[in-house]
Amino acid sequence: MKILVTGGAGFIGSAVARSLIDSGHDVTVVDNFNDYYEVSLKHDRVKEFLNGAKVIEADIRDRDKIGELFEQNRFDVVCNLAAMAGVRYSVEHPDIYVDVNINGLVNILEAMREHGCLRMVSASSSSVYGNSSDSPYKENMVADRPESVYGATKRAGELLLYSYFTLYGIQATSFRFFTVYGPWSRPDMAMLKFAKRISKGETIDVYNNGKLRRDFTYIDDIVSGFVLAVEKPVGYEVVNLGRGEPVELMDYIKKLEENLGLKAKMNLLPMQPGDVYETFADTTKAKELFGYEPTVRVDEGIERFVEWYRYYYS
Ligand SMILES: NC(=O)c1ccc[n+]([C@@H]2O[C@H](COP(=O)([O-])OP(=O)(O)OC[C@H]3O[C@@H](n4cnc5c(N)ncnc54)[C@H](O)[C@@H]3O)[C@@H](O)[C@H]2O)c1
Repeated sequence: MKILVTGGAGFIGSAVARSLIDSGHDVTVVDNFNDYYEVSLKHDRVKEFLNGAKVIEADIRDRDKIGELFEQNRFDVVCNLAAMAGVRYSVEHPDIYVDVNINGLVNILEAMREHGCLRMVSASSSSVYGNSSDSPYKENMVADRPESVYGATKRAGELLLYSYFTLYGIQATSFRFFTVYGPWSRPDMAMLKFAKRISKGETIDVYNNGKLRRDFTYIDDIVSGFVLAVEKPVGYEVVNLGRGEPVELMDYIKKLEENLGLKAKMNLLPMQPGDVYETFADTTKAKELFGYEPTVRVDEGIERFVEWYRYYYS
């Protein structure tokens, strides 16, 4: 198939694009290479993963450029992974999240509508569940109290996808990812941030005194679930993609320390605005719809992450 991957220089987008290229698909990548985090990491992912793909530097909000791209290519599927992705940054900069995650998405959907591209697999987030005490989170739970603007833009994206499905027949699977980690991950996320600071002997900020639980999901598991959905149209569906086994933040810091062979200096802090206490995916729907089966345990995933960290940052 001819596939467009937006955000293809990103952590998840580059890994999804690689997997699609390896399966023989014709892949085009769009990314604006913004400097929300180190741009060199994005360029290095392109070098590492995107051999065989067409890589176009463009902004998904640029109506003319995106229109031109769809005019020149008849895409069968769009994998939409471009977004402003950090929860905490969205507290200070809500407007750019609305602009990219909502207006950018609509821009892509409009180009799809105009050019008859009728399938999208898109990235949503566990943030849409807010601080629901009802865990594990199931897709049929009401998700109308996001704690962050980031979560609100992700929920809005899901609702827009539903409208474009009913009105214009664009099928969409919207995956709610749960804390994705692994090699080539984002430097604003805890694992890479912690690894860098611990390695330099610097103090790490640990929120809510470490009393947070996250359903850490290894990148390869996310990619395998995502790609299964690219191969299988199912109309409109919102689907959790997680490991389904939340880990205490302190346990995960301990595993990171063991693998780095260093002790972390911790600055214990109160809860951050926008943050949630726990994320926990019920993955029954992903299993039933796509045969999704996460395979990488957190201790194994952290080991692989640290191996990459040493190689990349040494
Ligand atoms: N990593 C996680 O734990 C996680 C969890 C839940 C949801 N998600 C979602 O998964 C998707 C991918 O996240 P990621 O962790 O790979 O983040 P990332 O920041 O590494 O990837 C996003 C990519 O999109 C690009 N981008 C941003 N704005 C753009 C624009 N206007 N035009 C074109 N490209 C643009 C960025 O340059 C970046 O390369 C995002 O939608 C994110 O919200 C990620």
